[in-house]
Amino acid sequence: MTRSTRVTAAASAACALVLLAAVPASAGGADPGAADVLGAGDPYFPLSGNRGYDVRHYDLDLDFTPASHELVAEATVTATAGERLERFGLDYSGPRIESVLVDGRPAEYLRSGQKLVIRPARAIRAGGEFTVKVRYRGVPERISDSVLGDYGWFNTDDGAVALNEPDGARTWYPVNDDLRDKATYTFRLTTPNGVRALANGEPQGEPRTHGDRTTTVWEMREPMASYLSTVAIGNFTVTRGDAGGIPNITAYDPAGGDGSFLQGSTAEAVAWEAERFGRYPFDSTGGIIDRVGAGYALETQSRPVYDGAPDELTVVHEVAHQWFGDSVTPESWQDIWLNEGFATYAEWLWQEGHGGPSARETFEGYYATPAEDPFWLLKTGDPGHDDIFNGDVVYTRGAMTLQAIRDTVGDQDFFALLREWAATYRHGNANTCDLLRLAEKISHRDLGPLFDAWLYTAAKPGPTA
Ligand code: ARG
Ligand code: ZN
Repeated sequence: MTRSTRVTAAASAACALVLLAAVPASAGGADPGAADVLGAGDPYFPLSGNRGYDVRHYDLDLDFTPASHELVAEATVTATAGERLERFGLDYSGPRIESVLVDGRPAEYLRSGQKLVIRPARAIRAGGEFTVKVRYRGVPERISDSVLGDYGWFNTDDGAVALNEPDGARTWYPVNDDLRDKATYTFRLTTPNGVRALANGEPQGEPRTHGDRTTTVWEMREPMASYLSTVAIGNFTVTRGDAGGIPNITAYDPAGGDGSFLQGSTAEAVAWEAERFGRYPFDSTGGIIDRVGAGYALETQSRPVYDGAPDELTVVHEVAHQWFGDSVTPESWQDIWLNEGFATYAEWLWQEGHGGPSARETFEGYYATPAEDPFWLLKTGDPGHDDIFNGDVVYTRGAMTLQAIRDTVGDQDFFALLREWAATYRHGNANTCDLLRLAEKISHRDLGPLFDAWLYTAAKPGPTA
């Protein structure tokens, strides 16, 4: 194999699309103040997110009673204004609001569709930090979408679980639901005594009991995209162990069977993947098994949720997302293959390393799919809103794209790419053009045609090796 030494230009649809996305969206004319509540411009979820500010921290004080599923909540959102704000929007589809305070003063607000629009008593100055305190109460409800399935706040027999991907965070707290606006989180979870309450990150101190209710505080200190935030409340068996020096906190509902294996399989997946992908990105790990009824697992940051006992490959998949999706988060939902293709490829690597088929053999099995099969019909790098979780197009063909890159650049450069991708964009956001540029820098090859064939063409690509 000869190596081109020329510095390549990353000429591909991956980078052309990014240029288009950088063009500011029009405010629309009639109401110059409306742009703040029109959404942050994601092509697949145009209503999600808000303009004009950046959230630093969410403090979610949630008091929940499993018997009634009533939530009594106070959400405090700390943000920095990017411009002078006469008003601003948050995404919110949760229960009835009782009050909104901005910097301690009552503020006017209205609810419109999935938005909460707030007009503070005084405009917020550009660059200023401000806090929004929203009190709300009632029974939160999940979103049931005919295409994307059920997501958001799930009330369960003995508690509740939140699985937000893609835009379900608004079912239980007011949020700037923009992939690019990561923030840190504090969860203050109050339940009747004896009920267990978990969230992302690590517990702060011991649970505190006042009368018949107990409060548990959890902190996520690394930036987190809102779709990865979670709480899980119920009659869990909780175990705390160690995974390579960080806490490994797992929980399972014993009514659904023995879930004690999760602690070991999680620790094993974390260690094995850290060897390949680089240092694990968060301060703790673990997992939660509950009978949620969602029909899928979710890579909630630091602590995935499994809807029933997972097999080993599912744990490997959700743990891989901690690097690919959670730490390195796509800039837009169009790039969901950067999550699902990588996590699926981690499964293929695991099988390759544990006496199963090589990743190349797994690839070949799928590559045998005839060119006229609908398997090849959509674009992996632009599947469309309805197909962001399409198992063939996004998961399998996303992983095949990585195998095609591996076949082209060789193992050394390919594994360097996985590690450098995780390291360069750690705790941040990235897009497919960033991956292309990094892959070209590492391999000294022009990979634009490969990316175009595998990601931006709705047809079976030619053979790579
Ligand atoms: N990201 C999850 C996974 O590990 C799937 C989420 C599916 N979400 C949904 N609303 N259907 O593959
Ligand atoms: Zn996944």
